Amino acid sequence: MRVRIAREAGICYGVERALRLAENAAKAPGQVSTLGPLIHNPRVVTELEGKGVKVVSDPSEVARGDTLVIRTHGVAPQVIEAAHARGLSIVDATCPYVRKVHQAVRSLVNDDYRVLIVGDANHPEVIAVRACADDAALVVSDPADLPDDLTDARVGIVVQTTQTPKVLQAIVDALLERVAELKVFNTICDATSKRQEAARALAQESDCMIVVGGHNSGNTKRLAEICAATGTPTHHIESSDELDPSWFVGVENVGVTAGASTPEVQLGTIVEYIKELDA
Ligand code: F3S
Repeated sequence: MRVRIAREAGICYGVERALRLAENAAKAPGQVSTLGPLIHNPRVVTELEGKGVKVVSDPSEVARGDTLVIRTHGVAPQVIEAAHARGLSIVDATCPYVRKVHQAVRSLVNDDYRVLIVGDANHPEVIAVRACADDAALVVSDPADLPDDLTDARVGIVVQTTQTPKVLQAIVDALLERVAELKVFNTICDATSKRQEAARALAQESDCMIVVGGHNSGNTKRLAEICAATGTPTHHIESSDELDPSWFVGVENVGVTAGASTPEVQLGTIVEYIKELDA
């Protein structure tokens, strides 16, 4: 059985940076907390806890003078203001690509565009992006979600960094027919696009795809959807315990990819495990 890893897979620049910032903060005196799990990878979050990094759900849980780490998804500007007002020390690990989405939204609001965010309304990144438009922006993930009252509107689009170009294109196509002006900031991040393209290419050449990443990770779920859409049987797992040997019966080519929150070592362990199944 041949096991191949997608040419672009696993941990991205933004997640690596956030981990480094949190680990460095934990070396200094005082308690360090992250506002929500730092990344969508329960194993890594547990390891961070072992290094003294706690997870809190609200800045009010952090004592004055202690450190609060903002995760890659970013937060509403009001949350940062409230944390500063409480006297917390802030380590802002918002991914620079997410920060660009915030800037794009602000420029659209300043120029009086009706802002539309392509993404999952309940995802923390989208909640924070929407807050940059004072919660006035619409969030859509399907052309069917578009409201009827956009005719003659000037519409400005930004995109959740981990969305697929296909979803963006479908929404742009639907809007072009009905709005007066459309301005699009394609804010899908480079790491996402490269992982999606590489996953699709490998799935097309494989008999079975394994997609590694947190079950709560949006970008991993989308990788699994992309692989499954090629017709190749696809399994989204978080750890090697979930691998089922029956998936590999009669399989010659296994492809493996991983979401942006999966460190190299986790990916390597799973690849070795799959190879052992064949030994
Ligand atoms: Fe940033 Fe893109 Fe990773 S937005 S956190 S580099 S998937």
